[in-house]
Amino acid sequence: MAIYRVVPDIWSVGAVDWDIRSFHGPSYSTHRGTTYNAYIIKDDKTALVDTVHLPFAAELIANLKQIDGLTAIDYVIVNHIEPDHSGALPEIMNIYPQATVVCTAKAREGLVRYFDTDGWTWKIVKTGDSLELGHHTLRFIETPMMHWPDNMITYIPQKQLLLSNDAFGQHLAWSHPFDDQNPMEDIMAEAQKYYANILTPFSKIVANKLKDILAMNLDIKIIAPSHGIIWRSHPEKILEAYSRWANAEADPKALVVYDTMWGSTEKMTRAILEGIARAGVSAVLFKASASDSNDIMAQLLEAKAIVVGSSTINNDMLVPVAAFLEEVKGLKPAGKLGAAFGSYGWRGGAVESIEKQLAEGKVELALDSLKVQWAPDEEFLGKCRDWGFALGTKIKG
Ligand code: FEO
Repeated sequence: MAIYRVVPDIWSVGAVDWDIRSFHGPSYSTHRGTTYNAYIIKDDKTALVDTVHLPFAAELIANLKQIDGLTAIDYVIVNHIEPDHSGALPEIMNIYPQATVVCTAKAREGLVRYFDTDGWTWKIVKTGDSLELGHHTLRFIETPMMHWPDNMITYIPQKQLLLSNDAFGQHLAWSHPFDDQNPMEDIMAEAQKYYANILTPFSKIVANKLKDILAMNLDIKIIAPSHGIIWRSHPEKILEAYSRWANAEADPKALVVYDTMWGSTEKMTRAILEGIARAGVSAVLFKASASDSNDIMAQLLEAKAIVVGSSTINNDMLVPVAAFLEEVKGLKPAGKLGAAFGSYGWRGGAVESIEKQLAEGKVELALDSLKVQWAPDEEFLGKCRDWGFALGTKIKG
C-alpha cells in the first residue's frame, strides 16, 4: 500500500491484504480481506508502532523508505505480539539494529519464544509509563486480553491519537484509510463481526478497561487500530459500540440456527419463526450447514435470544449444529436467552444435546424444549407457532 499521513509527522506505513479469506488459521472468515496497519512517528527520535504479517515485510520496508529523511528507527513499539503484527519484527530489527523494542513484560516473554532476539535492546513498559520522542509523547496503557495477555495501546496526547492495535479494529481491506472514506455500514458490520468472534469471551475485561480509559480523561480525536480503517471522523461510533457490546446490551431479536435431515426440523423452524414474528420480535434465520459461523456470531452479538434446532442422528444433533454450538460454548456470550427444538425418529438425543451445549455456553433456557417424532403435522406446527410466540414474548420482556 501507499503511505498515508494520519496527522502531521505520523504516517500509516502498513499493508493491505486484499486476498485473505481466512484468518487465525481456518477459524475466522475474512470476506473483505484485512489490513496490517503500522505507524511511523517522525520526531527527534523516530518510533515505529507495530509491524506487519511476515509476507508483507517487504511492503513495510519499502513504505518506510518513502518517508522523507527517515534514516533510523530509534524505537519499535510492539503493542501486541501476535504474528499478524510482529511477523516482520525480526526483519525490521535486522535493518535497524540500534532500535529499542518497547513492549510489556508479557510481550517480551512471547517475543523471545517466537524469534531469535539475541542482541535486541528492550524497554519494558506498563500502564502510566511514557516515552518522549521530542515533540511527541508516547503514553502506554496495558490492555490485557484485548486481545492477548501482552496487549497494550499507545496514546499520543499532542495529536489526540490513540494507536489501539487489535481494539476497535475490523478485518476490512481498503484503498483509502479513513472512516469518512469508506461505507460506514461495511465498517460497522466488520467491527461487529470482529468483536463477536474475537473479544466476546473477554467482554468483562473489555468493559472494565473501557471504564479505566474513560477515567483517564484522554482527549481522543483519532483512533488508529492495526486492522481496518482509522477512526478520524467518528471515533465515538466505535467507542459507543464497544461499550454496548462489552456490556452485553442486546436488541429484542432472536437468532434462529438449525439444520435438518428430511425436512421435519425445517418445518418446525419456519413455524417457530412465524410465532416469534407474531409476538412482534424480529428474527434472523441461519441453516448451519449453509452459513458461515463467524457471520452467525456477528448477528448473535446483538440478539437477545439464540434458538437452536436439529434433527437427530446417532442420538445426537447434526454435526453443523454441534460445530456452531461448540463456538458458542467457547465465546460464552453473556446475557442470552436460549431455546432448543428438534425432531427424531426412534430414540431422541438432539434436543437434549443442544440443551446441554447451551448451558455450557452460559445461555439460560427461556422455556421448555420442543420436539417431534418423525414429522410435525398441522396441529404440531400450530404448537411450534405458539412456542415461538411464547419465546418472542419473553424476548420482549
Ligand atoms: Fe491482530 Fe491479536 O492480532
